[in-house]
Amino acid sequence: MSAPLTPVRHFLDLADAGAEAIAAMLGDAVERKQARAGWPKGRADADAPLAGHTLAMIFEKNSTRTRVSFDMAMRQLGGTTIVMDAGSMQLGRGESVADTARVLSRYVDAIMIRTDDHAKVAELAAHASVPVINGLTDWSHPCQVMADMLTVIDRKAALAGTRWAWLGDGNNMLHSIVEAGSLMGFEVRIGCPAGYDPAIEVLEGALSRGATVQIVRDPAKAVAGADVVVTDTWISMGQSHAEAKIAALSPYQVTPEIMAGAAEGAVFLHCLPAHRGEEVADAVIDGPQSAIWDEAENRLHAQKSVLLWCFGLLG
Ligand code: CP
Ligand code: NVA
Repeated sequence: MSAPLTPVRHFLDLADAGAEAIAAMLGDAVERKQARAGWPKGRADADAPLAGHTLAMIFEKNSTRTRVSFDMAMRQLGGTTIVMDAGSMQLGRGESVADTARVLSRYVDAIMIRTDDHAKVAELAAHASVPVINGLTDWSHPCQVMADMLTVIDRKAALAGTRWAWLGDGNNMLHSIVEAGSLMGFEVRIGCPAGYDPAIEVLEGALSRGATVQIVRDPAKAVAGADVVVTDTWISMGQSHAEAKIAALSPYQVTPEIMAGAAEGAVFLHCLPAHRGEEVADAVIDGPQSAIWDEAENRLHAQKSVLLWCFGLLG
């Protein structure tokens, strides 16, 4: 097959996309969201820019938000989707990722994958001739952090210069937040116990881009003066429930007392699903500072712009 004239735009991680592209996507998301405020959710945007385009979605792990928000994103852009669980595909019984990429590239215009193993997303992208989007791996969750940034812009009218505090496990969500901070100019203070730090490569990469990022063992100090307080489950998909981990992370639960140390008007974010009473107290997640439902809605708006960027219609 002949090589495409322009390189295919994959959305694998925020650092690969870069600050300029992220800014273009967030700007477009703000405008598109505003332009269709109050419309029925299934009605296509006035310009229906992806009419005639189909996105295939492959899920190796469970999903509610990613599955539905990408499906609705394509509908609102005028396109369609095919949603597949990996277990019911030949991929689930050993067909290679590379061959799956080659075949799907002949049928659809883009592929989104949620998988355990980050290397699989990279392999899919290496062999696909259409854009590939990371819908969560064990390493990162860039689509969610696009929505998180959009939520902060909605609430704070700015992203650069804000101070974010992460409390909890140094997981895939934190990796994407640290990358985002280093690209978009917000500070990230990480409150986590020893043994649950984010990957050193992620911290080093962020620092090489001039990030303000640090690990603070004291949860109150991590949150002091923060504009945004973020957490996530202590046990991610694919991890086994470990009492030792729960015990180590318990002091990092986001409680009303912890939120009281954040800046006035601080916003609480959680990608969901939440484990109330573990990483976050009911009074916080259901309280006035919580922006979690807007954050979940913003998956839809942010991903529409990610899709448009992948198709070369933005940035
Ligand atoms: N936040 C998130 O990715 O949710 P799902 O696992 O439901 O897709
Ligand atoms: N860290 C969580 C995020 C879920 C959206 C997980 O990987 O399970």
